[in-house]
Amino acid sequence: MANYKGNDIKMNKLEKLAAEIKSNPIEAKAHIYHPIPFKEFADLTLSSSEKAVRNKWSKIEEIANELFGADMKGKKVLDIGANAGFYTFSFSKKGAQVSAFEPHPRYKDLGLEIIKEKKLDVRWENKPVQVSHPYLKDRYDLTLMLSVYQWMAEGGKEIEYAESCIKKISEQSDYLIFELGFNKGKSHLKTNSRNHYRALIEMLTEKTDYTHFKLLGKTRLWRTYSRYLVLCSKNPNYTDEGIRKMIRNLKF
Ligand SMILES: C[S@@+](CC[C@H](N)C(=O)[O-])C[C@H]1O[C@@H](n2cnc3c(N)ncnc32)[C@H](O)[C@@H]1O
Repeated sequence: MANYKGNDIKMNKLEKLAAEIKSNPIEAKAHIYHPIPFKEFADLTLSSSEKAVRNKWSKIEEIANELFGADMKGKKVLDIGANAGFYTFSFSKKGAQVSAFEPHPRYKDLGLEIIKEKKLDVRWENKPVQVSHPYLKDRYDLTLMLSVYQWMAEGGKEIEYAESCIKKISEQSDYLIFELGFNKGKSHLKTNSRNHYRALIEMLTEKTDYTHFKLLGKTRLWRTYSRYLVLCSKNPNYTDEGIRKMIRNLKF
């Protein structure tokens, strides 16, 4: 590659990878799904809303700072469905040791290259998460299951697989940040309930060992629908049970 004066510009490995993605995008209408938090990838286009990703991250970072402190050295984070690694690498930058699962044929290799080039303390498995995987024998301070459960469950066809994974994760991880919406989006899970948040909390209560749930906010990665972002734990300080009870008791 040459600059405007005709001099050769030496690209590093990650800049070359970014250039390759530009000429052969991973997504149908953009280069990648969500941002990669390193300067080499700064000008790639995104198929999800960057503003919404930043907003989601600020909610996640705020609660992580409250639970663990801004410096997460010594803390272990598990990221299921890491995609291009925005959340994995953002937690790695905060000092956490991150383990990630990402089976997508192109994102999985991209993640591995970034970890190698940036020499990050990240374990990255390029297969779907499995209950029997050695990573799931370890304990975690925090697990992320962000917009991945419906893909794991393949819209309901593989619900037993997805349920076995979330159950195991609830045994191994003190906190889980879980993001899901019902009835909309590719591969969505369905509910007949009029109150989607209640249906989500009922599902999480039934399928996990967690006892307390707190809504961190709603996310809107796509213009037409939103999802719930929920903190799951056994910590009674993090619950919105009181508000849910009040709403249940309201007579309209
Ligand atoms: C909609 S993206 C969400 C990415 C990221 N978690 C986020 O919130 O931005 C779902 C990701 O989950 C991955 N995925 C799908 N099935 C999976 C499975 N069984 N185990 C782990 N990851 C999976 C997909 O390859 C994809 O990258």
